[in-house]
Amino acid sequence: MDYTVMLPAAGSGRRMGAGENKLFLPLAGKPILVRTLSVFQNDPDCAGIILAVRPDERERIREMLAAHGITKVTAMPAGGGERQDSVRACVRAFMEAGGKDDSVIMVHDAARPFLSRRVIRELAETVREHGAAIAAVPSKDTVKQVADGIVESTPDRSTVWLVQTPQAFRAGLLAEAEEKALEEGFIGTDESMLVERLGHPVRVVGSTYDNLKMTTKVDLAIGEALLKRQEE
Ligand code: CTP
Ligand code: MG
Repeated sequence: MDYTVMLPAAGSGRRMGAGENKLFLPLAGKPILVRTLSVFQNDPDCAGIILAVRPDERERIREMLAAHGITKVTAMPAGGGERQDSVRACVRAFMEAGGKDDSVIMVHDAARPFLSRRVIRELAETVREHGAAIAAVPSKDTVKQVADGIVESTPDRSTVWLVQTPQAFRAGLLAEAEEKALEEGFIGTDESMLVERLGHPVRVVGSTYDNLKMTTKVDLAIGEALLKRQEE
């Protein structure tokens, strides 16, 4: 089932503290960005990749794509100040290139190299039928709502899911949600929030706990261990 993926890669990696965009850091010898791109490059269902980049990194990334045989990138729009701005740039580039409202698009963090083909497939199938689906895992920990260092409430753990990417949508639905959020000055922490604001139901697809985002140094250490395990 064909889909196009929007990969925001225009962050700065502040929490990683590497002094440059964390996506250039090697994970067992290969840049994080290349590992994530390779998942989609190697998936026959992936029709194309739209990559949001920082303009000052465009050339370096272009060279990286060529060196690693990544050929599916069809556009590299400039990202923006917030992740949401970078995703919107991708969605606009997709629509401007003739993307249809009922195409399946996925948004995936370039910093999450361990996603599985099974999850991608289930997301694509769910979106075809329902319009919006996100990857998530049940919370293993009890979650508390806290204000000023004091517990306010404890949501029933069986209802708490930790959300990842990919998040998949009918293109027209996400484009509408992005533009409405922009008009209203709303900034969300994921695409689902924007679609929820339209009142459209968002389905949850069970993902895997190893679909980690490389955010701090600890994640790099876990990521290296995961790759080592795969090689064994
Ligand atoms: N991203 C982006 N544009 C931004 C901010 C983030 O395209 N203005 C991308 C990042 O490159 C990353 C993904 O969104 O692939 C998830 O964001 P995050 O993990 O927060 O990465 P950074 O914003 O780079 O890291 P930090 O928040 O620690 O600075
Ligand atoms: Mg960030």
